[in-house]
Amino acid sequence: RVKMVLDCDTGVDDTLAILYAALHPAVELLGVGSVWGNVDLDTATRNCLHTVHLAGRPEVPVARGADRPLLQTDPVFAYHVHGDDGQGNAGTGRAVGAPATESAAEQMIRIAREHPGEVEIVAVGPLTNVAIALGLCPELPSLVRGITIMGGAALAPGNVTEVAEANIWCDPDAAAAVFNAAWTVTMIGLDVTMLTTLDDGHRARLDTGGTLGRYVSGILDHYIGYFAEVAFGERRSCMHDALAVAVAAGTLVPDLAPLVRAYVSTEGPTRGQTVCDLRGMYMGFPEQEGARCRPVLRTDPAFADEVVDLLIAAGDA
Ligand code: BDR
Ligand code: CA
Repeated sequence: RVKMVLDCDTGVDDTLAILYAALHPAVELLGVGSVWGNVDLDTATRNCLHTVHLAGRPEVPVARGADRPLLQTDPVFAYHVHGDDGQGNAGTGRAVGAPATESAAEQMIRIAREHPGEVEIVAVGPLTNVAIALGLCPELPSLVRGITIMGGAALAPGNVTEVAEANIWCDPDAAAAVFNAAWTVTMIGLDVTMLTTLDDGHRARLDTGGTLGRYVSGILDHYIGYFAEVAFGERRSCMHDALAVAVAAGTLVPDLAPLVRAYVSTEGPTRGQTVCDLRGMYMGFPEQEGARCRPVLRTDPAFADEVVDLLIAAGDA
């Protein structure tokens, strides 16, 4: 089992990522950190707590993280995508349990120290907490197994600007720190997350999956509606964050994930762009000096069905 700390700005797709990590037997979920992003920090934290309870895993600690980006002053949220409650306006709105007393960055470091070389950090929101953890503990890269993020786009267009994906665009300075640290960043970007989608057929199946399945179906309604309008022209939505958990867990093996040089643009019109050196793509990606980013370029879109199956099975249990 892969020991995991999951850091998320819990909106709709983050909820599926937490559920996947909490329920899949290949994952040992040791902690969840909340971060600002899709919604404000209080809402994200409440949704993290609610989700671990929904999964029947109330013992998984949830620690509060950053409520704004590292350097920029004004956080920008995405309530229009995830609903006012970050749960497609279909969440319970009910707080369950309490967050840990340590911060999300402190929790990440503590868990890494408790299991040297074994923990995978999976970050599926803005990378503010991870950057703070690197500041507090510069040796963090040598303490963990690796880091996997949902964020960026190697070849695909952005989803906030022409070139920037939301998690990176929200805090490019934090992302730059994470990309520059001495570890390999496995990047599950829009190249693959736009291609694995959920639709009303998935929702109909989820509706048969007990309380948990019905909850997920409920929160997806608004989210699918948003994507229908802005991205697909038909009722389906991206799955995004659960893909990062599954790649980190080894339950979704990418078809293509070269190791390349990459950096994050922090300024100007390209702010938030993940610039990956893909010049070797026509030669099968020969080894590059200084290559520390593994952008996933292809996965199996049928993975969406697996997630739905897992949730239905858990809902029936
Ligand atoms: C990413 O941004 C957030 O809205 C989603 O939860 C996902 O992590 C997609 O760009
Ligand atoms: Ca997210």
